[in-house]
Amino acid sequence: MNEEFNGGPDIDSNLASVELYFDVKRIYKELEELGYGKSDRLKVEDVNKVDSLHYFGSEAVDHAINLLDVRSNHRTLDVGSGLGGPARYIASRTKCHVTALELQEELHNAASDLTSRCGLDSYVNHRCGDFLSVDVEGTHDFLFGWLVFLHIADKKSLFHNCYKALKPGGKVYAEDFFVKHPLSEDEDNLLQKHVYCPNLQSWDKYQEDLRQAGFTDIQMTDLTDDWTKYTHDRLQSFVQNRDRHVRVLGEATTQALQTFYAVVSGIFAGGNVGGARLVATKPQ
Ligand SMILES: C[S@@+](CC[C@H](N)C(=O)[O-])C[C@H]1O[C@@H](n2cnc3c(N)ncnc32)[C@H](O)[C@@H]1O
Repeated sequence: MNEEFNGGPDIDSNLASVELYFDVKRIYKELEELGYGKSDRLKVEDVNKVDSLHYFGSEAVDHAINLLDVRSNHRTLDVGSGLGGPARYIASRTKCHVTALELQEELHNAASDLTSRCGLDSYVNHRCGDFLSVDVEGTHDFLFGWLVFLHIADKKSLFHNCYKALKPGGKVYAEDFFVKHPLSEDEDNLLQKHVYCPNLQSWDKYQEDLRQAGFTDIQMTDLTDDWTKYTHDRLQSFVQNRDRHVRVLGEATTQALQTFYAVVSGIFAGGNVGGARLVATKPQ
Protein backbone atom coordinates (compact mmCIF):
# COMPACT_ATOMS: atom_id res chain seq x y z
CA MET A 1 0.00 0.00 0.00
CA ASN A 2 1.39 3.35 -1.01
CA GLU A 3 1.21 5.80 1.90
CA GLU A 4 0.97 8.85 -0.33
CA PHE A 5 -2.73 8.47 -1.06
CA ASN A 6 -5.49 7.91 1.43
CA GLY A 7 -8.48 8.98 -0.65
CA GLY A 8 -10.98 6.34 -1.68
CA PRO A 9 -12.45 6.12 -5.15
CA ASP A 10 -15.24 8.57 -5.79
CA ILE A 11 -16.53 7.51 -9.19
CA ASP A 12 -17.96 10.36 -11.19
CA SER A 13 -21.21 9.10 -12.65
CA ASN A 14 -20.84 11.60 -15.52
CA LEU A 15 -18.09 9.42 -16.95
CA ALA A 16 -20.66 6.65 -17.35
CA SER A 17 -22.05 8.30 -20.51
CA VAL A 18 -18.60 8.45 -22.17
CA GLU A 19 -18.62 5.60 -24.70
CA LEU A 20 -14.82 5.28 -24.54
CA TYR A 21 -15.31 3.67 -21.11
CA PHE A 22 -18.36 1.58 -22.06
CA ASP A 23 -16.43 -1.70 -22.22
CA VAL A 24 -12.95 -1.35 -20.74
CA LYS A 25 -12.55 -5.13 -20.67
CA ARG A 26 -12.31 -4.99 -24.45
CA ILE A 27 -8.55 -4.88 -23.99
CA TYR A 28 -8.67 -8.59 -23.08
CA LYS A 29 -10.35 -9.34 -26.40
CA GLU A 30 -7.64 -7.38 -28.22
CA LEU A 31 -4.96 -9.30 -26.34
CA GLU A 32 -6.64 -12.56 -27.29
CA GLU A 33 -6.39 -11.41 -30.93
CA LEU A 34 -2.67 -10.97 -30.36
CA GLY A 35 -2.52 -14.58 -29.19
CA TYR A 36 -2.59 -14.15 -25.40
CA GLY A 37 -4.70 -16.26 -23.04
CA LYS A 38 -6.41 -14.78 -19.95
CA SER A 39 -3.50 -15.23 -17.55
CA ASP A 40 -0.48 -15.44 -19.87
CA ARG A 41 2.60 -13.37 -19.19
CA LEU A 42 2.54 -10.32 -21.48
CA LYS A 43 5.15 -8.45 -23.46
CA VAL A 44 4.77 -4.76 -22.68
CA GLU A 45 5.41 -3.85 -26.32
CA ASP A 46 2.39 -5.95 -27.34
CA VAL A 47 0.11 -4.52 -24.64
CA ASN A 48 1.20 -1.04 -25.69
CA LYS A 49 -0.40 -1.62 -29.08
CA VAL A 50 -3.87 -1.65 -27.47
CA ASP A 51 -3.74 0.05 -24.05
CA SER A 52 -3.58 3.73 -24.92
CA LEU A 53 -6.57 6.05 -24.38
CA HIS A 54 -4.87 9.18 -25.72
CA TYR A 55 -3.63 10.26 -29.17
CA PHE A 56 -0.48 8.93 -30.86
CA GLY A 57 0.10 6.19 -28.22
CA SER A 58 3.72 5.55 -27.24
CA GLU A 59 4.97 8.29 -29.58
CA ALA A 60 3.29 10.88 -27.33
CA VAL A 61 4.80 9.27 -24.23
CA ASP A 62 8.26 9.18 -25.86
CA HIS A 63 7.94 12.91 -26.42
CA ALA A 64 7.35 13.48 -22.70
CA ILE A 65 10.19 11.18 -21.63
CA ASN A 66 12.64 12.87 -24.00
CA LEU A 67 11.56 16.42 -23.23
CA LEU A 68 11.74 15.95 -19.45
CA ASP A 69 14.72 13.59 -19.59
CA VAL A 70 13.01 11.06 -17.29
CA ARG A 71 15.59 8.80 -15.58
CA SER A 72 15.50 5.74 -13.36
CA ASN A 73 15.95 7.74 -10.14
CA HIS A 74 12.87 9.89 -10.78
CA ARG A 75 9.53 9.47 -9.04
CA THR A 76 6.58 10.14 -11.30
CA LEU A 77 2.80 10.31 -10.95
CA ASP A 78 0.46 9.54 -13.86
CA VAL A 79 -2.94 11.06 -13.08
CA GLY A 80 -5.94 9.46 -14.80
CA SER A 81 -3.82 6.51 -15.84
CA GLY A 82 -6.61 4.57 -17.56
CA LEU A 83 -5.48 1.08 -18.54
CA GLY A 84 -1.93 1.96 -17.46
CA GLY A 85 -0.52 2.32 -20.98
CA PRO A 86 1.63 5.42 -20.40
CA ALA A 87 2.68 4.26 -16.91
CA ARG A 88 3.94 0.87 -18.15
CA TYR A 89 5.66 2.43 -21.14
CA ILE A 90 7.46 5.04 -18.98
CA ALA A 91 8.50 2.35 -16.48
CA SER A 92 9.74 -0.10 -19.07
CA ARG A 93 11.69 2.54 -20.99
CA THR A 94 13.21 4.51 -18.10
CA LYS A 95 13.00 2.12 -15.09
CA CYS A 96 11.71 5.01 -12.97
CA HIS A 97 9.00 4.64 -10.34
CA VAL A 98 5.47 5.47 -11.53
CA THR A 99 2.38 5.84 -9.39
CA ALA A 100 -0.60 5.31 -11.68
CA LEU A 101 -3.72 6.91 -10.22
CA GLU A 102 -7.07 6.04 -11.82
CA LEU A 103 -10.57 7.02 -10.74
CA GLN A 104 -12.57 4.19 -12.29
CA GLU A 105 -12.20 0.91 -10.42
CA GLU A 106 -12.75 -1.32 -13.45
CA LEU A 107 -9.96 0.43 -15.37
CA HIS A 108 -7.73 0.38 -12.31
CA ASN A 109 -8.24 -3.37 -11.82
CA ALA A 110 -7.49 -4.17 -15.47
CA ALA A 111 -4.45 -1.86 -15.41
CA SER A 112 -3.04 -3.56 -12.28
CA ASP A 113 -3.54 -7.00 -13.81
CA LEU A 114 -1.79 -6.01 -17.07
CA THR A 115 1.14 -4.42 -15.22
CA SER A 116 1.59 -7.51 -13.09
CA ARG A 117 1.49 -9.80 -16.15
CA CYS A 118 4.14 -7.59 -17.80
CA GLY A 119 6.37 -8.11 -14.74
CA LEU A 120 6.42 -4.36 -14.00
CA ASP A 121 5.00 -4.45 -10.44
CA SER A 122 8.20 -3.22 -8.89
CA TYR A 123 8.13 -0.05 -11.02
CA VAL A 124 4.42 0.79 -11.32
CA ASN A 125 2.23 1.23 -8.28
CA HIS A 126 -1.47 1.35 -9.22
CA ARG A 127 -3.82 3.34 -7.02
CA CYS A 128 -7.57 3.79 -7.37
CA GLY A 129 -8.90 7.20 -6.38
CA ASP A 130 -10.00 10.69 -7.32
CA PHE A 131 -7.06 13.05 -7.78
CA LEU A 132 -9.10 15.82 -6.15
CA SER A 133 -9.60 13.91 -2.91
CA VAL A 134 -6.49 11.77 -2.45
CA ASP A 135 -3.77 12.88 -0.06
CA VAL A 136 -0.70 13.73 -2.06
CA GLU A 137 2.82 14.28 -0.81
CA GLY A 138 5.19 16.46 -2.75
CA THR A 139 7.56 13.65 -3.65
CA HIS A 140 7.27 13.58 -7.43
CA ASP A 141 9.71 14.88 -10.02
CA PHE A 142 7.07 14.74 -12.75
CA LEU A 143 3.28 14.59 -12.92
CA PHE A 144 1.72 13.39 -16.17
CA GLY A 145 -1.85 13.80 -17.38
CA TRP A 146 -2.85 12.46 -20.80
CA LEU A 147 -6.39 13.62 -21.64
CA VAL A 148 -7.57 13.63 -18.04
CA PHE A 149 -7.61 17.29 -16.98
CA LEU A 150 -10.49 17.84 -19.43
CA HIS A 151 -12.67 15.58 -17.22
CA ILE A 152 -12.02 17.62 -14.05
CA ALA A 153 -14.28 20.64 -13.53
CA ASP A 154 -12.58 22.19 -10.52
CA LYS A 155 -9.42 23.57 -12.19
CA LYS A 156 -8.36 25.46 -9.06
CA SER A 157 -8.20 22.28 -6.96
CA LEU A 158 -6.74 20.34 -9.90
CA PHE A 159 -3.74 22.64 -10.36
CA HIS A 160 -3.34 23.12 -6.61
CA ASN A 161 -3.08 19.33 -6.21
CA CYS A 162 -0.63 19.10 -9.13
CA TYR A 163 1.52 21.69 -7.40
CA LYS A 164 1.30 19.84 -4.07
CA ALA A 165 2.27 16.51 -5.64
CA LEU A 166 5.56 17.85 -7.04
CA LYS A 167 8.94 18.44 -5.47
CA PRO A 168 10.31 21.98 -5.83
CA GLY A 169 11.67 22.09 -9.38
CA GLY A 170 9.24 19.34 -10.46
CA LYS A 171 7.15 19.61 -13.63
CA VAL A 172 3.62 18.91 -14.72
CA TYR A 173 3.27 17.57 -18.28
CA ALA A 174 -0.21 17.27 -19.75
CA GLU A 175 -2.06 16.89 -23.03
CA ASP A 176 -5.51 18.41 -22.91
CA PHE A 177 -8.36 20.10 -24.76
CA PHE A 178 -8.88 23.86 -24.67
CA VAL A 179 -11.51 26.27 -26.02
CA LYS A 180 -10.27 27.97 -29.19
CA HIS A 181 -13.53 29.73 -30.08
CA PRO A 182 -16.91 29.80 -28.33
CA LEU A 183 -18.75 26.51 -28.76
CA SER A 184 -22.28 26.29 -30.15
CA GLU A 185 -24.92 24.92 -27.76
CA ASP A 186 -25.12 21.69 -29.81
CA GLU A 187 -21.36 21.23 -29.71
CA ASP A 188 -21.27 21.83 -25.98
CA ASN A 189 -24.08 19.30 -25.42
CA LEU A 190 -22.23 16.69 -27.48
CA LEU A 191 -18.99 17.36 -25.67
CA GLN A 192 -20.60 17.05 -22.24
CA LYS A 193 -22.60 13.93 -23.02
CA HIS A 194 -20.05 11.93 -25.00
CA VAL A 195 -16.67 13.17 -23.76
CA TYR A 196 -17.52 14.85 -20.45
CA CYS A 197 -15.50 18.06 -20.46
CA PRO A 198 -17.33 20.08 -17.79
CA ASN A 199 -15.21 23.23 -17.65
CA LEU A 200 -12.86 23.61 -20.62
CA GLN A 201 -10.70 26.72 -20.49
CA SER A 202 -9.38 29.08 -23.14
CA TRP A 203 -5.65 29.09 -23.98
CA ASP A 204 -5.05 32.23 -21.86
CA LYS A 205 -7.21 31.18 -18.91
CA TYR A 206 -5.45 27.80 -18.81
CA GLN A 207 -2.09 29.51 -18.33
CA GLU A 208 -3.55 31.99 -15.87
CA ASP A 209 -4.94 29.11 -13.72
CA LEU A 210 -1.51 27.44 -13.69
CA ARG A 211 0.15 30.72 -12.68
CA GLN A 212 -2.42 31.21 -9.91
CA ALA A 213 -1.54 27.76 -8.57
CA GLY A 214 2.12 28.84 -8.34
CA PHE A 215 3.58 27.34 -11.54
CA THR A 216 6.21 29.17 -13.57
CA ASP A 217 7.89 28.64 -16.96
CA ILE A 218 4.53 27.65 -18.47
CA GLN A 219 4.87 26.34 -22.02
CA MET A 220 1.82 25.51 -24.11
CA THR A 221 2.08 23.99 -27.59
CA ASP A 222 -0.87 23.93 -29.96
CA LEU A 223 -1.44 20.35 -31.23
CA THR A 224 -4.84 21.03 -32.79
CA ASP A 225 -3.89 20.30 -36.41
CA ASP A 226 -2.29 16.96 -35.51
CA TRP A 227 -5.24 15.96 -33.31
CA THR A 228 -7.80 16.98 -35.93
CA LYS A 229 -6.11 14.70 -38.45
CA TYR A 230 -5.54 11.92 -35.91
CA THR A 231 -9.16 11.83 -34.75
CA HIS A 232 -10.42 12.02 -38.36
CA ASP A 233 -8.15 9.14 -39.48
CA ARG A 234 -9.03 7.09 -36.38
CA LEU A 235 -12.73 7.29 -37.24
CA GLN A 236 -12.15 6.44 -40.92
CA SER A 237 -9.99 3.45 -40.10
CA PHE A 238 -12.45 2.24 -37.44
CA VAL A 239 -15.37 2.40 -39.86
CA GLN A 240 -13.36 0.70 -42.64
CA ASN A 241 -12.54 -2.15 -40.25
CA ARG A 242 -15.98 -2.33 -38.66
CA ASP A 243 -16.51 -6.02 -39.49
CA ARG A 244 -13.26 -6.93 -37.77
CA HIS A 245 -14.26 -4.87 -34.69
CA VAL A 246 -17.71 -6.49 -34.50
CA ARG A 247 -16.09 -9.93 -34.70
CA VAL A 248 -13.56 -9.13 -31.94
CA LEU A 249 -15.44 -6.70 -29.69
CA GLY A 250 -19.12 -7.36 -30.43
CA GLU A 251 -21.74 -5.05 -31.91
CA ALA A 252 -22.52 -2.99 -28.76
CA THR A 253 -18.88 -2.12 -28.02
CA THR A 254 -18.16 -1.39 -31.68
CA GLN A 255 -21.15 0.95 -31.90
CA ALA A 256 -20.18 2.70 -28.65
CA LEU A 257 -16.61 3.32 -29.86
CA GLN A 258 -17.77 4.44 -33.28
CA THR A 259 -20.11 6.99 -31.68
CA PHE A 260 -17.31 8.27 -29.44
CA TYR A 261 -14.79 8.51 -32.30
CA ALA A 262 -17.35 10.26 -34.52
CA VAL A 263 -18.21 12.85 -31.87
CA VAL A 264 -14.55 13.63 -31.15
CA SER A 265 -13.67 13.82 -34.85
CA GLY A 266 -16.63 16.15 -35.46
CA ILE A 267 -15.69 18.37 -32.52
CA PHE A 268 -12.12 18.88 -33.77
CA ALA A 269 -13.31 19.36 -37.36
CA GLY A 270 -15.59 22.14 -36.06
CA GLY A 271 -12.49 24.14 -35.12
CA ASN A 272 -13.73 25.48 -31.78
CA VAL A 273 -11.95 22.98 -29.55
CA GLY A 274 -8.17 22.69 -29.66
CA GLY A 275 -5.56 20.32 -28.31
CA ALA A 276 -2.51 21.38 -26.36
CA ARG A 277 0.59 20.07 -24.68
CA LEU A 278 1.52 21.95 -21.55
CA VAL A 279 4.58 21.86 -19.37
CA ALA A 280 4.87 23.94 -16.20
CA THR A 281 7.38 24.06 -13.35
CA LYS A 282 7.00 24.27 -9.58
CA PRO A 283 9.65 26.82 -8.58
CA GLN A 284 12.63 25.72 -6.43
C1 LIG B 1 -8.98 9.65 -21.75
S1 LIG B 1 -8.54 8.62 -20.41
C2 LIG B 1 -6.76 8.61 -20.58
C3 LIG B 1 -6.12 7.47 -19.83
C4 LIG B 1 -4.60 7.45 -19.88
N1 LIG B 1 -4.05 8.71 -19.41
C5 LIG B 1 -4.11 7.16 -21.28
O1 LIG B 1 -3.63 8.10 -21.92
O2 LIG B 1 -4.18 6.03 -21.73
C6 LIG B 1 -8.76 9.68 -18.97
C7 LIG B 1 -8.76 8.90 -17.66
O3 LIG B 1 -8.79 9.81 -16.56
C8 LIG B 1 -9.56 9.21 -15.51
N2 LIG B 1 -10.00 10.26 -14.57
C9 LIG B 1 -10.98 11.18 -14.79
N3 LIG B 1 -11.10 11.99 -13.71
C10 LIG B 1 -10.20 11.56 -12.79
C11 LIG B 1 -9.87 11.96 -11.47
N4 LIG B 1 -10.50 12.98 -10.89
N5 LIG B 1 -8.88 11.29 -10.80
C12 LIG B 1 -8.25 10.24 -11.39
N6 LIG B 1 -8.53 9.81 -12.64
C13 LIG B 1 -9.49 10.45 -13.34
C14 LIG B 1 -10.69 8.53 -16.28
O4 LIG B 1 -11.33 7.58 -15.49
C15 LIG B 1 -9.94 7.96 -17.47
O5 LIG B 1 -9.46 6.68 -17.24
